Amino acid sequence: MVFLRRAEPPQSSSALAAASATQSSSGFLPGALVDRPRLSARDISVYYADVQAITNVSMDVAQHEILALIGPSGCGKTTLLRTFNRMNDSVRGCRVTGNVIFDGEPIYRKGVDPVALRARMGIVFQKPNPFPKSIYDNVAYGPRLHGLVDRQAELDEVVEASLQRTGLWNEVKDRLHKPALSLSGGQQQRLCIARTIAIAPEIILMDEPCSALDPIATARIESLMRELARNHSIIIVTHNMQQAARVSDRTAYFHEGHLIEIGTTDQIFTTPEQSLTEDYITGRYG
Ligand SMILES: Nc1ncnc2c1ncn2[C@@H]1O[C@H](COP(=O)(O)OP(=O)(O)O)[C@@H](O)[C@H]1O
Ligand SMILES: [Mg+2]
Repeated sequence: MVFLRRAEPPQSSSALAAASATQSSSGFLPGALVDRPRLSARDISVYYADVQAITNVSMDVAQHEILALIGPSGCGKTTLLRTFNRMNDSVRGCRVTGNVIFDGEPIYRKGVDPVALRARMGIVFQKPNPFPKSIYDNVAYGPRLHGLVDRQAELDEVVEASLQRTGLWNEVKDRLHKPALSLSGGQQQRLCIARTIAIAPEIILMDEPCSALDPIATARIESLMRELARNHSIIIVTHNMQQAARVSDRTAYFHEGHLIEIGTTDQIFTTPEQSLTEDYITGRYG
């Protein structure tokens, strides 16, 4: 069972080695596993050509949780996030070992269709990236692509419901056929989230979704995340520690491609067990 192999201890510094020494004899960090996970990473390593960006990461994502991935720039947060829905497949020279188990099925296996997989795991990027189409067509794009609706009236309903849930409906209902790019940055990001939830994904991956937004737009997205977590699991990369503390149920701290510590957000921010985590959250590093 390749998934359950004990992770190699990190070699790059004594703090990393000390951190890895806390792994239990099963090879998993305390707090990395949950009951009935929705998604599990098992012994994931990711390489860009011969540079290793992620080393032996094993962790679970629970149903209906918001999990924050934090750590200094370059520690591998985006790489790991993109490993969950096989977005790294299209990056030249990128290689993934280990596996990701989604609802009991390994996703890195011959025969898995990455497009179908991505319909179940939506992703929202740092920079809002609406398509150069109308507001309506942005939200309708996924349901059309994946053949989720048969009738125009049904599509209209999905578009309206998705815009309602992101709090955008009242702002755009009179200009649905205007270009999405005419919206403000915060509205564009909520539109991208509406586009993502229109296909009813089970998991929503978010890579620093608020870093280009002002505090008001950020607050709206954070309250939207709490609402979405009732039906979805959310994994959010954030460099904003207040945001991680405000919105997430659990937090995972990464350093140089290693998962150093994972636990409830309260525990990570109040009583971190690792000096690397503490240095980061107290601003001594990164
Ligand atoms: N497409 C790529 N090609 C080569 N190296 C990459 C690529 N993307 C990321 N990396 C490298 O992988 C490491 C992790 O990057 P990344 O996942 O973007 O970190 P983070 O999101 O935590 O800032 C970094 O050393 C980065 O330079
Ligand atoms: Mg990143």
